[in-house]
Amino acid sequence: MSSKKIVANLKMNLSAKETKEYLEKIGTKIQNKNVIICPTNIFIPYFLGHGYEVGIQNISTEEKGSYTGEVSAMQARSIGVHYVILGHSERRKYALETDEDIGKKVVLGLTHGLHVILCIGETEEDRNEHHTEKVLQNQMLYALKNIEKKDISNITIAYEPTWSIGSGKIPKEVDIEEAVDFIKKIILHTYHTSIEVLYGGSVRKENIATLKQINNIDGFLIGEASTDPEKFLRIIEVAVIV
Ligand code: PGA
Repeated sequence: MSSKKIVANLKMNLSAKETKEYLEKIGTKIQNKNVIICPTNIFIPYFLGHGYEVGIQNISTEEKGSYTGEVSAMQARSIGVHYVILGHSERRKYALETDEDIGKKVVLGLTHGLHVILCIGETEEDRNEHHTEKVLQNQMLYALKNIEKKDISNITIAYEPTWSIGSGKIPKEVDIEEAVDFIKKIILHTYHTSIEVLYGGSVRKENIATLKQINNIDGFLIGEASTDPEKFLRIIEVAVIV
């Protein structure tokens, strides 16, 4: 079975002391560029220069200038960050990010040499009303509307049903497979090329072996379980050929 890509989204967790302990526990155990850790912005420098890649959890919609509290794509890239998570449902919900904002960030990220991890996903209501495909298609095509075929290899889609994030609830394996297949088909049809698709939402050390069996998944985006080094290392052990 092939090796998967693992993206750790540490979100707004861990203090400076906890971050230090986290890094000590991980040590030199992760020597694989298919593992991407996305810490809180201020801790990014501590994660650089080890055996894995580092990502940022968000970037500004603007190039540069008077935008207090923001970090630009260029700044992230200039310190050695190679990935950016965009369109995460928590940013859509709490920071009120629109598809248009996300589209702008995708362009800026790519322009400045960041690989974009674009999160899309339906709500529970969307799924119950059989709107999943429509929602996925809209979110994806809006965010990618200014993107050309040559950019697709620098984009990874993370399929994350919003109702699965942090809830312990996971769609049926067949439903994940179907959604991932749909995403890949839309990209193939639109850009005539293939794209990597990850699954995210309540991925744990207890379910990673089962989820890994789903044929068309290229990897996983992990929130909560990635904040505990032991759980995270176990997930990597199962999903990534180190
Ligand atoms: P979770 O988060 O693993 O805690 O469900 C996933 C995510 O937010 O991407």
